[in-house]
Amino acid sequence: MPDRTEHLLGLLLGTEEDWPRAFETLVKRLGPVRDSAGVDHTVATERITIEPFDLRAEPRYDLVIDRLAYWYYVPREWLKKVALMDDVYLLNSPFTFQSMEKHAAYCAMMRLGLKVPPTWLVPYKNPVDHAKYAYTAAKYNRPFDLDAVADQVGYPLFMKPYDGGAWRGVSRITDRQTLHAAYDASGEMLMHLQASIEGYDSFARSLTIGPDTMVMRFQPEKPMHERYAVQHGFLSPEAGTEVVTISRLINAFFRWEFNSCESLVVGSEVYPIDYANACPDISITSLHYYFPWAIGALLKWSVFCAVTERKAQLDLDTRRYFEVADSEMDYSAKLAEYLKLADDYFDTARYHEFCATSLSHVDDMVRDWVSSPDFDALLVDTVRTTYPPAEHDRFVAHFRGLIGLWIKGG
Ligand SMILES: Nc1ncnc2c1ncn2[C@@H]1O[C@H](COP(=O)(O)OP(=O)(O)OP(=O)(O)O)[C@@H](O)[C@H]1O
Ligand SMILES: [Mg+2]
Repeated sequence: MPDRTEHLLGLLLGTEEDWPRAFETLVKRLGPVRDSAGVDHTVATERITIEPFDLRAEPRYDLVIDRLAYWYYVPREWLKKVALMDDVYLLNSPFTFQSMEKHAAYCAMMRLGLKVPPTWLVPYKNPVDHAKYAYTAAKYNRPFDLDAVADQVGYPLFMKPYDGGAWRGVSRITDRQTLHAAYDASGEMLMHLQASIEGYDSFARSLTIGPDTMVMRFQPEKPMHERYAVQHGFLSPEAGTEVVTISRLINAFFRWEFNSCESLVVGSEVYPIDYANACPDISITSLHYYFPWAIGALLKWSVFCAVTERKAQLDLDTRRYFEVADSEMDYSAKLAEYLKLADDYFDTARYHEFCATSLSHVDDMVRDWVSSPDFDALLVDTVRTTYPPAEHDRFVAHFRGLIGLWIKGG
């Protein structure tokens, strides 16, 4: 019988060093975690290596934070095995992230009544590399008028891949000429045309980990290190609540536990435009001020799941959401119902109770560590590996200033 009081959190990593080092350090500092029955638990981390595996082998991990499977299929298939065979808890489920890319997320959220801008999918520009393509296309592909589709969507519009990420292939289209140039360049990518939300008041990027959400003002036009503005209360209370609700709803709906969501806010209207990010950016050099929050939330949610032996739900519960969507309720009443479903999925009340009792020392522990030379060394190392030497001093000072701001008031 395995010891149910010793928990191992696996980290499946690519090139990142900053947040994993932070996470590992904090787990080491955590000490025993006492559950509601008064039993002490220990938690440790381990970086997962990639090697052949027996499908019947028993993994040692209670939970895995995955940052790799979105592009590397050996660990992706291992994740599926440990989820299906061994009840390992995953942040995130590879099943829904593989099948529910941006396009599926748009569809589901439109069905739930969210204000996703008008969006069309257009067939590939170039032939698909498949032996049956030529015959099938000749017989069934209807010639279509790209201009007519764009006219339906309306200008300006965005052309972007149906499963996109990292701004690959994204362009803002203002006229027929740029429309055709972008479509010609799309090649083998499958593209959406989406109406642009013009003149928005703010771009809210929210990072959600378990049921915890941080809504940040995002400035996509700025360089990476300035994209997240440190600004509180930039949304009206109503719009702020809506952004949080939408973020938590999307995650609960798809069983995503670590995901970011982008919404454009115009007056009191919230338009979600991007919310299927299997590996959201949480580097210090992007999040800076918000980094301690993100690491603290990741720590708390992971420990909660491991210690309370939370069971992963691999199946979706779409019908309960669709019943709300199809009801006579108005939009805000529907959002309130979705939030209840999401909180039910995340067991939010129990999680908060666990944080208040078993993890009450974590916030101070994070603050102590972020104020320490050990954190500063991590910050300096990260700057050195991210920027050219001539920029090191400037960026170290820049990020120290922002972290200092968090220590003072965050
Ligand atoms: N409908 C829209 N209205 C206004 N701006 C948009 C719209 N769609 C996309 N954009 C702009 O284009 C950017 C990239 O689009 P999107 O987020 O959908 O692509 P992505 O490749 O997933 O980017 P990332 O990985 O950085 O999130 C957005 O951050 C936003 O600035
Ligand atoms: Mg985006």
